[in-house]
Amino acid sequence: MNMKHKLLLLLLMMMSAGAFAQNDPYLGIIPAPVSVAKSKGEFKLTPETIILVDTPDNKAVRFFTNYLKKSGYVNTVLDVNQVDRKKYSLKNSITLSLNFKSELPAEGYQLTISENQVFLEGRGAGLFYGVQTLIQLLHASNPGYGTIPCAVIKDHPRFPYRGMHLDVARHFFDVDFIKKYLDLMAEYKLNNFHWHLTDDHGWRIEIKKYPKLTEIGGMRAQTKIGRATGGDSDLYDNTPYSGFYTQEQIAEVIHYAEDRYINIVPEIEMPGHSLAAIAAYPALSCDPEKPYKVGETWGVSKDVLCPTNETFTMIDNILLEVMELFPGKYIHIGGDECPKIAWKKSDFCRRLISEQSLNDENGLQSYFVGRIEKYVNSQGRTIIGWDEILEGGLAPHATVMSWRGEGGGIAAAQLGHDVIMTPGSGGLYFDHAQSKSPQEPLSIGGNAPLAKTYAYEPVPAVLSAEQQKHVIGVQANLWTEYIATPEKAEYMLLPRMMALAEVGWTPAANKDFRNFSQERLAHHLAKLDAAGFDFRVPVAYGAEDTTLAGNQFNVVLVPPVTGAKIHYTLDGYAPGETDLEYKAPLLLTIPEHKTLHLKTITITPSGKRSIVSDIKMEN
Ligand code: ACM
Repeated sequence: MNMKHKLLLLLLMMMSAGAFAQNDPYLGIIPAPVSVAKSKGEFKLTPETIILVDTPDNKAVRFFTNYLKKSGYVNTVLDVNQVDRKKYSLKNSITLSLNFKSELPAEGYQLTISENQVFLEGRGAGLFYGVQTLIQLLHASNPGYGTIPCAVIKDHPRFPYRGMHLDVARHFFDVDFIKKYLDLMAEYKLNNFHWHLTDDHGWRIEIKKYPKLTEIGGMRAQTKIGRATGGDSDLYDNTPYSGFYTQEQIAEVIHYAEDRYINIVPEIEMPGHSLAAIAAYPALSCDPEKPYKVGETWGVSKDVLCPTNETFTMIDNILLEVMELFPGKYIHIGGDECPKIAWKKSDFCRRLISEQSLNDENGLQSYFVGRIEKYVNSQGRTIIGWDEILEGGLAPHATVMSWRGEGGGIAAAQLGHDVIMTPGSGGLYFDHAQSKSPQEPLSIGGNAPLAKTYAYEPVPAVLSAEQQKHVIGVQANLWTEYIATPEKAEYMLLPRMMALAEVGWTPAANKDFRNFSQERLAHHLAKLDAAGFDFRVPVAYGAEDTTLAGNQFNVVLVPPVTGAKIHYTLDGYAPGETDLEYKAPLLLTIPEHKTLHLKTITITPSGKRSIVSDIKMEN
């Protein structure tokens, strides 16, 4: 692209960002809906607006009326079947209807906004998703809260499974934070919370029959400081770390999630990633005499569950309590990264391999998963496992989570199994850094910038049309080895979770990263900023690190958060709020054989800062 074109493009980008919502075909909604037909005029929510409902006890109705109350609106809510039409003018009304006439797809809704009335009809969870869209529109209104443009929005999800995972084993996150996480998921129409409850570094769910799982397995004596590998491998914080959820708390979270149409997929890891359980009950291991302690440094423990009858009895009992708590179809049994060293050393395992006519330790892993699957199926549930469960032969009814690329997912779909795509290589590992800059906080490594997450396509082209139907959805994972605080969890989650939401919900043909990032996201981030969330502030659009050659540059920058300020320097120093503020395009001239650095920082209204970006201009 030559310079002139580049400038024109930048200018167009700026113009469209300034005219947010008017030009945006999706009215600022994330994830972008299936279709939006705009028309003239607008509807204004006032305290006099009547809310008409045909199912007063519906969860979506309750969510909306609670939302209005919290926003300071005390609206009259009436049952549409009993309303006295003489007493109330229905001219200024919002109707929420489950008993509609139109044919809507699963989880679908239709939102019709005219000057006098808003009419929302939804199928099942669709009414709730329509409410989320309506709430987003009320906030996005331009100008001021509560004015929404007339339009007809038809919408439904691309995939039935839209998941977000959280590892609470490496670091523990309390119930209040889990609820906040669920709130975010609900707003962005994600419907499965994968709760990673156990691992080498902590057991976080109360099991009444085996109290030592949390008493001993819920506590590690200390935690590795910094990276587990490389650097100083001997530094520990010398501080005990503990935390777990009581069954009562779990029930409370499940109820909270149900109110938001979110299913929870509990994960109990086996046969690997089980050191916390083994530390509590060494008889679970192949060498019960050995001393064990809950993991203190990151990585994969070589000590794993031994496939004895005693182990299976204990796991069945644990899973029974888990299934009594969690009502959903899926129980995640882990299955990833199980080193076979302990099994290779074990006479018992060797005998079992021979008795069961298994090929090797991979076969033993499949035998393990198969036995667990049988038990879980006998209770009317389905197992999910990470893609390693394919290795010695796939359990007959298992759903596979493909995390090591898409290969496992492709193989499983070809075998006729359901698949959830969650590859780290696809930008779906939110423990990876959000840019290559050394200014990013400590992370497990990798690089999963927003654009990469957004670009992920969950349905591999190599699958036949029939096999593609087995890709039931997509998920991103937040592993927390290097995430010790709620603030950092939010920083790593946001804004990538919004990109994930669009991958899971929006038809591929409607996806457009420029529109998403520059016309819609800025407003959502401003809302999160005002609500006190942490998030990674993107670098100003047009300011991303690059090297340009030429003698003159007209630099146009677009704030990545509505209301944020962009400050810059030309002297090579890192900019801050005391430096020049970007207000209009910068015309920069570079003398011959000289280099100029334009460094920028974006600072949000609440004071959150982007990393410093650097455009190097050489002549
Ligand atoms: C995984 O990241 N070990 C599933």
